[in-house]
Amino acid sequence: MAANPLLGTKPAVLDVEAVRRDFPILATSVHGRPLTYLDSAASSQRALPVIRAVESYETHSHANVHRGVHALSQAATAAFEGARERVRRFINAASVKEIIFVRGTTEGINLVCEQTGASLRVARINRRGEVPFEEFQRQLGPRTRLVAFAHISNALGTVLPVKRMIEAAHAHGAVALIDGAQAVPHSQVDVRALGADFYTFSGHKMYAPTGIGVLYGREELLAAMPPWQGGGDMILTVSFEKTTYNELPAKFEAGTPNISGAVGLAAAMDYLEGLGIEAIAAHEQRLLELATAELARMPEIEIVGTAAHKAAVLSFTMKGVHAHDLGTILDAEGVAVRTGHHCAMPVMTFFGLPATARASFACYNTEEDVAQLTSALKRAHEVFG
Ligand SMILES: Cc1ncc(COP(=O)(O)O)c(C=O)c1O
Repeated sequence: MAANPLLGTKPAVLDVEAVRRDFPILATSVHGRPLTYLDSAASSQRALPVIRAVESYETHSHANVHRGVHALSQAATAAFEGARERVRRFINAASVKEIIFVRGTTEGINLVCEQTGASLRVARINRRGEVPFEEFQRQLGPRTRLVAFAHISNALGTVLPVKRMIEAAHAHGAVALIDGAQAVPHSQVDVRALGADFYTFSGHKMYAPTGIGVLYGREELLAAMPPWQGGGDMILTVSFEKTTYNELPAKFEAGTPNISGAVGLAAAMDYLEGLGIEAIAAHEQRLLELATAELARMPEIEIVGTAAHKAAVLSFTMKGVHAHDLGTILDAEGVAVRTGHHCAMPVMTFFGLPATARASFACYNTEEDVAQLTSALKRAHEVFG
């Protein structure tokens, strides 16, 4: 596996035992076994500072935002808008007007793609699970309006050459929408350095609560787009004759937002940066390489997705065993992995597979977790072999 382009040059060390103490759920037993949680790509666990920030907000500061002059409403508004500024800083957006709070990546993508009536052209992947760049480039043309892709594939772990792909999109006059759901917990994302037009991600995959996420959009693009939902906060004035829409970002945030979620998201960003995103990425990369080497030694296992640049995700199958049956045996051993098509059915079809099992790594995983996965796989092989 080649060096991870997400990693910089800083020496990176993570005190994993200390990190694990921040995640009380990891002490859970499952079927009488210690939990080995390898499903963070689906949803990561919450860090105590995140849980405490949400609790503190709910206990001391909650009221509705933006519409009140009373003290609690002002406190809630300050917390919510403070979280927006925290997000801006985290991804280095130029302005808080470019930070739209959404429920998650799904909603972020829908908000942008609702605006198009485009026909779809699909970029090809190769057997390693990479997008061959020259071929991708040839698919772009003068009629290409929007190029949409994941920063890191959730099904295969491939890290895409995002900056080059964005530049190629721009060279054809298209805008680029990047799904950063799997990237933000594992890499430093700078939307301006990348040149992203739209970039979206979910809180719950980066140690924050569910139901909160972000759509970043360049201000001039968001300003030119119509609102996508009607309701409180997105309207400036309304009469039966004429409605005028609110400024950015409120134009895209109809109704009462997920205030405590935004507070939790901001706390998760503090937490991630406190650990050091490069340190996290280096740690996860070591685990990914260890697990890849262990599974490669097992003849009954086939690793799916062998890109030169991968992050935090290891998809695989066991010969003659359906992924769901495999997942059930692993669960009985206390090992939580995801099984299925990972919302990426065309990718599964390409590999001729109905499903894979997927182990994914986060800041709190250890070499012991990899050892547990390997021994649970051996056990599954005994059961089905
Ligand atoms: C790459 C990617 N995009 C989008 C999503 C959907 O995210 P959410 O369910 O938080 O909207 C996921 C979730 O698994 C994902 O991994």
